[in-house]
Amino acid sequence: MSGSNDHIGAAARRYGKATIAEAVARLRGGGLVAVPTETVYGLAADSTDATAVAEIYRAKGRPDFNPLIVHVPDLDAARTLGQFNERAAGFAAALWPGPLTLVVPKTEDCPVTAAVTAGLDTIALRVPAHPVMRELLQASGLFLAAPSANRSGGISPTTADHVTRSLGKAVPLILDGGPCERGIESTIVAIGGDDYRILRPGPVTAAQLEAIAGKPPTTARIGKIEAPGQLASHYAPAKPVRLGAQTAMADEYHIGFGPVAGDMNLSEDSDLAEAASLLFAALHDADASDRLRIAVAPIPKTEIGLALNDRLRRAASPK
Ligand code: TXA
Ligand code: MG
Repeated sequence: MSGSNDHIGAAARRYGKATIAEAVARLRGGGLVAVPTETVYGLAADSTDATAVAEIYRAKGRPDFNPLIVHVPDLDAARTLGQFNERAAGFAAALWPGPLTLVVPKTEDCPVTAAVTAGLDTIALRVPAHPVMRELLQASGLFLAAPSANRSGGISPTTADHVTRSLGKAVPLILDGGPCERGIESTIVAIGGDDYRILRPGPVTAAQLEAIAGKPPTTARIGKIEAPGQLASHYAPAKPVRLGAQTAMADEYHIGFGPVAGDMNLSEDSDLAEAASLLFAALHDADASDRLRIAVAPIPKTEIGLALNDRLRRAASPK
């Protein structure tokens, strides 16, 4: 990844002043732009533009029942789209900008086009921390709907090259900001009165949320809220994936962790955050390797390890 950019496809351009200006022009014209965030690369469009949002679903091959996250510059902007009670505002104040998405009731005059929320009366909102995404939000003045920039069901992209490989010509401009630091999608939290529920585990852990809320997340369903996009098979390489593998067969690409060396190691120090930052790249590499199958070492089901195991379970799930 260092230095060489021959892995970058035609559409990927190193981020800079000129590319931000081009991105803004494209977004204002109803186009799509792939943009790095601290979690994964997103495929962004103006969330108030029905045609542009339809183009996101088309480019990804995404089912229309799976709503999108809207990215905003700050909590004030978020309040124009969603209703923040004390619980929601508490999480936002403590963890935004950052890898946390809050699902809250839509405001009555929410300008976001219906397809973004897949007809639900709630909306998923996030204030991202990545400087490129933040600059794009500021410079465009738009609220950006952005799912992960991959074909629906495939492995999420943590580099511009992953976006090129997954979406290719469907995306005319990819802002290349290098590899994503967190490497795993935001934690999604649904708010219901005083209660909150984790809809998708991610970089923000249950322990962090509990420390802020002063109470643990509920496991009961909140109102009608679910995460309609959390399908059993997702993040899936083309090859079969075997989990909990201490050793591997000759035809398996072995993704290691800690003492399990593997063909590559997610973190020799058993550091879960480091492992998260490399997981999707490892799956991409394993998929592109000459081995027929993929084996993954056991990863502890604690803290961010819960999110890693969630993604791996879906990656290994029959399609
Ligand atoms: O880190 C991330 O969250 C990345 C970056 C680009 O921000 N985005 C991302 O988007 O992961 P996507 O589309 O791959 O996942 C969005 C998830 C889906 O599982 C969807 O079902 C859920 O958010 N979602 C969106 N709106 C929702 C709502 N109103 N209620 C419940 N779940 C919702
Ligand atoms: Mg996704």
